[in-house]
Parts: sequence; C-alpha cells; structure tokens
Amino acid sequence: MTAPSYSADYLRSLADPEAFWAEQAQSLHWDKPWDRVLEDSKAPLYRWFTGAEFNTCYNALDRHVLAGRGDASALIYDSPVTGTQQLFTYRQLLDRVAAVAGMLLAHGVKHGDRVVIYLPMVPECAIAMLACARIGAVHSVVFGGFAAPELAKRIDAALPVLILTASCGIEPGRIVEYKPLLDQALQLATHPVGACIVLQRPQCAASLQAGRDHDWREAEAAATPAACARIRSTDPLYLLYTSGTTGKPKGVVRDHGSNAVALLYSMRAVYDVGVGDVFWAASDCGWVVGHSYIVYGPLLAGCTTIFYEGKPVGTPDAGAFWRVISEYRVKSFFTAPTAFRAIKKEDPRGELLARYDLSCLKTLYLAGERCDPDTVLWAQAMLKVPVVDHWWQTELGWPAIANCIGIEAFPVKPGSATLPVPGYDIQVLDNDGQRVAAGEIGNLVIKLPLPPGTLATLWNDEAGYLENYLARYPGYYLAGDAAIVDDDGYFWVMSRIDDIINVAGHRLSTGSMEEILAAHPDVAECAVIGVADALKGQLPVGLVVLKSGVTREHADIVRELIESVRASIGAVAAFKQAIVVPRLPKTRSGKVLRATMRAIADGRSFAVPATIDDPVILDEIAQLLKGSAA
Ligand code: COA
Ligand code: AMP
Repeated sequence: MTAPSYSADYLRSLADPEAFWAEQAQSLHWDKPWDRVLEDSKAPLYRWFTGAEFNTCYNALDRHVLAGRGDASALIYDSPVTGTQQLFTYRQLLDRVAAVAGMLLAHGVKHGDRVVIYLPMVPECAIAMLACARIGAVHSVVFGGFAAPELAKRIDAALPVLILTASCGIEPGRIVEYKPLLDQALQLATHPVGACIVLQRPQCAASLQAGRDHDWREAEAAATPAACARIRSTDPLYLLYTSGTTGKPKGVVRDHGSNAVALLYSMRAVYDVGVGDVFWAASDCGWVVGHSYIVYGPLLAGCTTIFYEGKPVGTPDAGAFWRVISEYRVKSFFTAPTAFRAIKKEDPRGELLARYDLSCLKTLYLAGERCDPDTVLWAQAMLKVPVVDHWWQTELGWPAIANCIGIEAFPVKPGSATLPVPGYDIQVLDNDGQRVAAGEIGNLVIKLPLPPGTLATLWNDEAGYLENYLARYPGYYLAGDAAIVDDDGYFWVMSRIDDIINVAGHRLSTGSMEEILAAHPDVAECAVIGVADALKGQLPVGLVVLKSGVTREHADIVRELIESVRASIGAVAAFKQAIVVPRLPKTRSGKVLRATMRAIADGRSFAVPATIDDPVILDEIAQLLKGSAA
C-alpha cells in the first residue's frame, strides 16, 4: 500500500470532488442514499448529498453503541470552576440525549422548529444540541457572554418555539445569572416564546415564571425517550450567528449530511484522531469550534471529547490545560493563540508543565485569530510537538488551510497556516480578480463549489449570502481576509479586509459598537478601531466626537459608553477604552480614516492619505491615544 499523500488527496478532491466526497461519506450511516453528490443546478448556490436522509445524532451516538462501543468514553465534563468531573459513556450520553429529545417533543418542538440554546459549558449544552439533531429541530446556540440585546436579536431571527437555558454560568470570581438576561431578552424580542426550560445549578437558583418556564430535571425525568427521526440530509442542523460588517449578525446555516462528512474527514486528515482517541478543543459551544470540535466532530469520529468549563489561567493556575491533557490522555489539543499568550504571560518558563506527564499529546492546533510566530515558537519549545496554526471561519465550519498531519506532515513555518486542506481551492486575487504573484498580498478567495460542511446559506437571507460572499468575484467565495501565498505555496493570512476585529479569538463587528456609541445623547459621531493587544490580539478602542455644547465631564461620558457596550453586546466585547477627540480624520469625501487611526494606535508607520481633509487632526489623535494608553 502506498503511503498517504497530501498532494494525491488534494488533487483528487479538486479534480473529482463528487467521487472524493462520496468515498468519505461511506463511513457514515445513511437512512436513504443520495440522488446526487453535488447539486449544481442553482450555481453559485450548491448543495451536497441531495435526496439523501441522514440523522446526525444517530451517527454521533447510536451508530457507536450499536457497534458495541456503548461503554467507551464519549464525553468528559471537567469543570474547575465548580470542582466537578463527570464521565459519560456513549450509552449514557445516548440515554440522556434521547430523554431530552423526548422532552423537546413533549413541549411541542417539531421537525424544522428552532430551539435557542443559551447555556454555559455544562454537558446539557451538548445534550441539547444532539437532542435537537435527533428529532430534526434546528438549534441556535447563543454564547453565554452575550448580553440580553444580542440574545434578543438571535431570538427574533430564529423565531424559536422553545429556549433552553440554565440558572447561571460561572466566570472566575463571579456568578453570571442567565435567567434575568433571558427574561430581559424576551421582553426586548418581538417574537413570543412559548416555553423556556431552565437547568437549575447549585450555585444559583433561577425564579421560574409559572406557565412559561419549566424545571429541566423535572421535564427530562417526565419525558419518554425519543427515537431518531428521518431527516433530509440537506435539512438545517443548526444556525450560528457571527459578526458581519454591520451590527446585524449573520446566521450561518449548516445542514446534516454534508456537515458530518466534512467533520469526520477533518478529524482524521487534519486532527489525526480516530475511534478511541481523546480529542480536546478548549472553546465554548457558543462558537463554531464548539459545534464542530467539542460536539459533532469528535463524536462522529468515535473519540472521547473533553467538555471544559474553565479558563487557561486562573482556574486555578496556568497549568490548567496541562492537567487536563495529562489526566485524560489527550492526543490532539485545539485552542486559540490568545489562551497560549495568557499562559506564556503567567508561566513564561513553563515551570507548571514539569508537573505533568504530557507524553500523550501529539499535536497542538491553534486557530481563531492570526497566530504570532513568537507564540508558535514558545508552544513548540514548551510542548515539543508540532504546532498546527490553521485557518477557517464560522461560515466554513471546518479547516480550510492547515498542516494536514493526519495525511502528511509538512514543515511548520511560524505565522503561516500552511497549505489548503483537500476540498478547498484557495487563491489570492487582486482587486481586478487576477492571481497575485508569490509574496504579494491580496484577497483570500475560495473557488466554488465550496466543499461539504460549509455554509448552505444565511438564515432567511439568501440575498445577503450572494451579495456579501459570492458577488465580489463571480465563481469564488470571498473570505474577508487578506493573505499572501509564498513560493512554497504556504498561505499567510494577515488581517481582515472589513471592520471585523478579533478579540481573544472572538470575532466582533466594530460597526455594531459604533451603533451603540452613536446612540449616546452626547455623541455627535464616532469610530471604533481594533488596536493591537499583546494578550488578546486586538482590543476595541472608541473615538468619539461630542455634540457642541456638551459640558459634562468626559470621564463620565466615557464610563457610560463603556457600560452601554457591555450592556448591549456583552462583557465579551472587552470594550474598555474610549477617548473624546475634537474631530475624526476623514477623506474629503467624508470617509473616516479608520486604517490610519489603527496604524497610529499601533505605533506603525503610515502614509498620510492625500485626500485627507484636515491632516492636523492625526497628530492630535496620536497625542490623545498616547495619553489614554499611558
Ligand atoms: N459568560 C459570561 N461572561 C463571559 C463568558 C461567558 N461564557 N466568557 C467570557 N465572559 C466575560 C469575562 O468574564 C470577561 O468579563 P470581565 O470584563 O468582567 O472581566 C469578559 O467576558 C472578557 O472575557 P475573556 O475574553 O474570556 O477575557 P479574560 O480577560 O477574562 O480572559 C483569556 C483572557 C485569554 C484567558 C480568555 O480570553 C480566553 O480564555 N481566551 C480563549 C478564548 C477562546 O477559546 N476562543 C476561541 C474561540 S474559537
Ligand atoms: P470566526 O468566524 O469567529 O472563526 O473568525 C474567523 C476569522 O478569524 C477569519 O476570517 C480570520 O480573520 C480569523 N482567523 C481564524 N483563524 C485564523 C488563523 N489561523 N490565522 C489568521 N486568521 C485567522
């Protein structure tokens, strides 16, 4: 047998995608085979595995139990913030999921209905997602760090029949009560939600509204376990909102069959794990990493997944990740570069590492933001394993540029995400749609059709999908990132080309923060820029111009602005700095020079744009930014 080769897989995936993906799909159970592997009659909108019936929950749980792996470990819940460790075998997880699926049915949830899940990192979050998948309901998980207005937006977009929540989440040093946030969101939302099921945690009891709210444990105990429904492979499995270039989040729609095919392939090809291996993605179910690599990917592959409710540092120390890796014998570990920077800051010499046996760990995977070479080198030196910086996005659902260790490992170049993953024809184009020369920066695009597992469309916004992603270069998907390809074909993803910033691996829209600042009665106009931060990658900074005649203390106004971003978007926005400026620098046509202000804030050199209306303001802003940072 010949050794697996990256180039053989890659070339075949592009030359004959239907044969390539049909072959990958054979490892899964299909209730009905597909009519077509790739439906292209509505190009540029493509669908994979049309005509097939496929149940994601069956493939993630029942299939393994029926194959005799019911007693194998499926999910380990490790929660340093509550002092809990709990193991679920595949059979135990299946039993809980079937019961919760029955609970959903008993509360009127039907195939195709949406269920909003607003939960912290408790196993019930995975159980709820899988239970929705089991009966064909569409889940929309909302990250716990979002405030009530963001939750309300997602409720009004998904129009759920039911919301699943918990009494609280636990952040180091504070309890975050979820129920008051949910109650507030339900008041803000225009869509009436019939029922909420609340998981009461020992750390805090939520008050339940009679008639609408139900106790999770009682409802689950009363439920009749539900069997797997027959579901069209192209039916939506979930909606997941991500920041777009406006304050209105985009609802990415992922379907059942193609998602499972892509995730299963990636577990082997990218993450180098299979049946019985322990895989850990230290993220949150509220993000795409949680969907793909805490819940669905590892379970589809028959791995053990770790469900971690804690932080890289402070729960209790910077050795937390090493403890989990060594205790559960994690083979492949995935986290965000910001988590490693936090550990490096607290334990630069890796002294806590020496306490643990990490011989089980074979590869470290980093994604979610551009990874600075220093962090890659530090991680490599500490862990002595290959570090795979890989690039993807919520829309894509699984890695698009990576070092595919499971097929063939390539030398690591710190700062580069390596090569396109099989299935993705990635190119870098200039503004005229021509490929740029090696070493030159351009727009990162993916030639259509995108592979299975990528977004089917945007929820209730097909026109938005076409306009935002497919219109700029006909025949290509526009990723929204600027990139370089080098002479070896390695991709270097450098920055966004829009107003999205990346704060601690979280993607946020500066446009939505500007909307909030602009709503303050004293603010005439404003700009929010992402400035470089050694720990979180980027942090938002607001620049506000006050209305003439405002005489209030600037410090009071700034405090109110910070509070309103926290109350509207959530603590996760990490909006903690705003400065009052006399004017905003603009071109003569009135465009605010955000990139120039970013360069000033980061201390980078920049050319004063020829079209600037008032060059003096740049010096004034530089002084104000310097003063506020000091
Ligand atoms: N529920 C409620 N609040 C939350 C939350 C949640 N699930 N997650 C974060 N927050 C809050 C935090 O408590 C913090 O509030 P504060 O301003 O009152 O301190 C704020 O949101 C910012 O949180 P965070 O980004 O976690 O920053 P931090 O300073 O507390 O910790 C790191 C810094 C680097 C340790 C942390 O950012 C981290 O673990 N990052 C990795 C993130 C990750 O895995 N991203 C990958 C996404 S794929
Ligand atoms: P999200 O949809 O939240 O996963 O964010 C996706 C965005 O994060 C991408 O479009 C990039 O801007 C950035 N990103 C993610 N991973 C990487 C990476 N490995 N290198 C550079 N940027 C990355």
